[in-house]
Amino acid sequence: MTEVSLVKQALRSVVAGQVKAAADPWRPGWHLAPPVGLLNDPNGFVQHQGRYHLFYQWNPLACAHGSKFWGHWSSTDLLHWRHEPLALAPAEAYESHGCYSGSAVVDNGKLTLIYTGNVKYPDGSRTAFQCLARENAEGEFVKAGPVLNLPEGYTGHVRDPKVWKFGDSWYMVLGAQDLGLQGKVLLLRSRDLLTWQSLGEIAGSEMNGLGPFGYMWECPDLFNLSGADVLIFCPQGLPAQSDSYLNTFQSGYVVGQLDHDKGQFSHGDFHELDVGFEFYAPQTTLTDDGRRLLIGWMGIPDGDEFYQPTVEHGWIHIMTCPRELTFNAGKIIQRPARELCHLRGKMQQWQGIAQEAPVWEITHAEVEIVTDLPFHADLGGNLKLVWDGEWLRLSRNNRRSGEPEQRVWRGALHHLTLLCDASSVEIFINDGQAVMSSRYFPVLPAQLTFSGKQPITLCRWSLADCVIE
Ligand code: FRU
Repeated sequence: MTEVSLVKQALRSVVAGQVKAAADPWRPGWHLAPPVGLLNDPNGFVQHQGRYHLFYQWNPLACAHGSKFWGHWSSTDLLHWRHEPLALAPAEAYESHGCYSGSAVVDNGKLTLIYTGNVKYPDGSRTAFQCLARENAEGEFVKAGPVLNLPEGYTGHVRDPKVWKFGDSWYMVLGAQDLGLQGKVLLLRSRDLLTWQSLGEIAGSEMNGLGPFGYMWECPDLFNLSGADVLIFCPQGLPAQSDSYLNTFQSGYVVGQLDHDKGQFSHGDFHELDVGFEFYAPQTTLTDDGRRLLIGWMGIPDGDEFYQPTVEHGWIHIMTCPRELTFNAGKIIQRPARELCHLRGKMQQWQGIAQEAPVWEITHAEVEIVTDLPFHADLGGNLKLVWDGEWLRLSRNNRRSGEPEQRVWRGALHHLTLLCDASSVEIFINDGQAVMSSRYFPVLPAQLTFSGKQPITLCRWSLADCVIE
């Protein structure tokens, strides 16, 4: 289909569906959601001339993982976002089955997108091209076509380029599946973003002491944080353990040192970035003031997603809030971006026995819980958060099967921050030591109810609605 026909179809879908989508009571007040259709990975997260740009994997035509476009928002403050012109539509032969995930860099003062052109064949096989598109004076992205074909030794699953500058060169990490069906991350180097030299595999299943570690690694991201090199990636195919890898697919990181010249990366153990029900495909950027920010997709491509009730309103999935990353004792600490405190309205505080706590509305709210003693909390009648002195458990009934399911964290709890929106909660444990991100579909207005006989200290702020101009 031509670019014009694809854009016409997308426009029709938005015009026809946006009123219904906007009227959905479970639409977020302060998180980013697609106008209509399906959103997945954050792409091209970058700050340029004081403005943040966030692109996103978007199927504007249906609540399904079909042909992916790149939507585009921008913001000066990470709070108020505006829609920008549609950035990429999958119109060319080299991207016929989707303009898949990728990143953005500033080259010669212009935003430049590096993304995967995904191509599927009738026999079920596929190939992938890494492609470039450059911003023009009108703020549109002009495609320059593929800059990298499928490398030899890999299946058609090679995608999600993340590019950064180091010294005088550009570097790219790419997610890949080798011919033995092992997930890998490839490193490449370029002087001009057009010609890429392979530096080989820097990490993967059966490498660096990891053992078997998944059949595909998606969405790699590599950056320096306080002197260490962090590689984020999303391994697919890790068997669930009793207290970890509980989602269908994981997102996590390893910490090490990258030798940019030799293309060698030695690293330690894998840690999950988020232990909630919905979190995947995060991407980071470095801000002008030197902070490393992360945004993830509050979703998992596991099929259960289509049982979410927003599908009836013609849209599905949201982004996480932006998070600031720091490093402590070899682990990433994630905190809500400091800008988010500007959303806070009136503050209420309460201290006493948990079961005597007032019932607070949390449809759009931040709640701080200070305690190390056991408590039960019910969120909106269908999500439970229980701390028993050893385990923190978040539980709900699976929307597809109706069966109970839970996600867990174990440690010495003393502090929780709950960032709540109309159909999501992000739970920051001990000031960012761990995070649980989850969608839920509360009885609205959503209420938070405590039980338990131990003392607890609570604080609540209402949060302003403010997403899109
Ligand atoms: C991750 C992912 C990426 C791919 C994109 C397609 O969720 O599967 O690997 O580029 O989504 O939408």
